Parts: sequence; structure tokens; C-alpha cells
Amino acid sequence: MDMSSIVLFGPPGAGKGTQAARIMEATGLPQVSTGDMLRAAVKANTATGIEAKGYMDAGNLVPDEVIINLIKDRILEDDAVNGVMFDGFPRTIPQAEALSQITEVTHVIAIEVPDEKIVGRICGRYSCAGCGMVYHDTFNPVSSSGCDCGNWQEKRRADDNAETVQSRLDTYHQQTSPLADWYLEKGIFHPIDGDRAIDEITGDILVALE
Ligand code: AP5
Repeated sequence: MDMSSIVLFGPPGAGKGTQAARIMEATGLPQVSTGDMLRAAVKANTATGIEAKGYMDAGNLVPDEVIINLIKDRILEDDAVNGVMFDGFPRTIPQAEALSQITEVTHVIAIEVPDEKIVGRICGRYSCAGCGMVYHDTFNPVSSSGCDCGNWQEKRRADDNAETVQSRLDTYHQQTSPLADWYLEKGIFHPIDGDRAIDEITGDILVALE
């Protein structure tokens, strides 16, 4: 196993995608977001997308086997040869066990945000369809001239609504948060206070990765 990778861990809306864009710039590691891969599959109407859509709309986890197969294919791509930054994966212990057979995980960066802040973050989220950059109505608005990529087009996610957020949070606490202890025991778990300014959080993550 030559490659080594990092994992961005945390509840929905914690800021994993926001921080991933910055860490990617600093480390050169490509972002591998299972959420983004599933949304692309839904949009393309593939067999995986058709199977995943109902789970995603309900705020439930897509079955482990589907996710693990997506990851196995993704890490064969050329840009993954030196490792990747997983965003939103693994989310269950079977996924983490499968990952340990694929790549060495050197750091699990856990972005911690209290539940009461999550709904506001998710319901105000939008992104640029041109480049994927994530923004927020209040906390991180796009500039009046649009996104820096020059191809600004506002996009909102189908699952970013108050009803689905609650079920995504319940799913996180029941099925994903037990992974924290699993990684703590391995000595690679780095909790980061995510209830602060975006730049401060990035600074702490980069220190943890040193
Ligand atoms: P996924 O796409 O992974 O969604 P998620 O985990 O719910 O995480 P989000 O993308 O919602 O949040 P984020 O932490 O990236 O926050 P962001 O940076 O955008 O998964 C979607 C669905 O796919 C799942 O429900 C499941 O069905 C399925 N799925 C995916 N992976 C799976 C897996 N491995 N196994 C099984 N099923 C899977 O930030 C949120 C907002 O807050 C933004 O507007 C941002 O601008 C703002 N913000 C960010 N940081 C701050 C800050 N410090 N202060 C104030 N605002 C901030």
C-alpha cells in the first residue's frame, strides 16, 4: 500500500467541503467527496444514482457496498496516485474497514460544530455550478461580481431543507459518530473546533496536518 490519505470527518454542514477546497490548495491532495460523486450519479441517471437517490432525499446513508465500490473505482484514477482527501467518507465502521485495505489514513480531521448551528448553515448554503465553490447567504456570500472562477451560476442542493437536515443529523449521530472512537484508538484523530471563522479553522487544520 503506497498511498496515504486524509479524512475530513464531521456532521452535515460542518464545513468539510469548504475546508476541502482550501486544504486541496495547500497540500495538492485531490478532494474525493462521496456526496459529490453520488449527486453526479443521480444527475447522470446511472444505476448507482437511481439506487442512491431515495436514500439521499430521505437523509439516510446509501448502502456501504455502493459507496465502497465507488471509492474502489475512484482511487484507481491517475490523480489519486499520491493519496487523496476524503470528504464525507467513511461514514460507517464497515466503510472505514474497507478503506483501511485500500490506503493508509494518516490523519482524520474532525470538524466539530454543535447541532443547533447546523440547520442555519445548511439552509443558507449555495454553490457555484461552474466550479463547485461553496457559499452561504449570510456567513460566506459570493461577491457582487460572482464567483472568482468567472463562470458563476447559483446552485442549491435538493436535500438542503430543514426536514432533511434533522434526519441527516440523526443519521450522523447514530451511524457515523461511533467512528470517532474507532479512529481515536488508532491515534490519528484530530478534533478541530468548527464553530469559528473559516480562516481560523483552516489554520488549525494545516497545523494538524504538519
Ligand atoms: P454529503 O454531500 O457528504 O453531505 P453532508 O455530509 O451532509 O455534508 P455537507 O456537504 O452537507 O456539509 P459540509 O460539511 O461539506 O459543509 P459545507 O462546507 O458545505 O452527503 C449527502 C448525502 O449523500 C448523505 O446524506 C447520504 O445520503 C449520501 N452519502 C454521502 N456520502 C456517503 C457515505 N460515505 N456513505 C453513505 N451515504 C453517503 O458548509 C455548509 C455551509 O456552511 C456552507 O454554506 C458554508 O458556506 C457554511 N460554512 C462553512 N464553514 C463555516 C464557518 N466556519 N462559519 C459559518 N459558515 C460556514
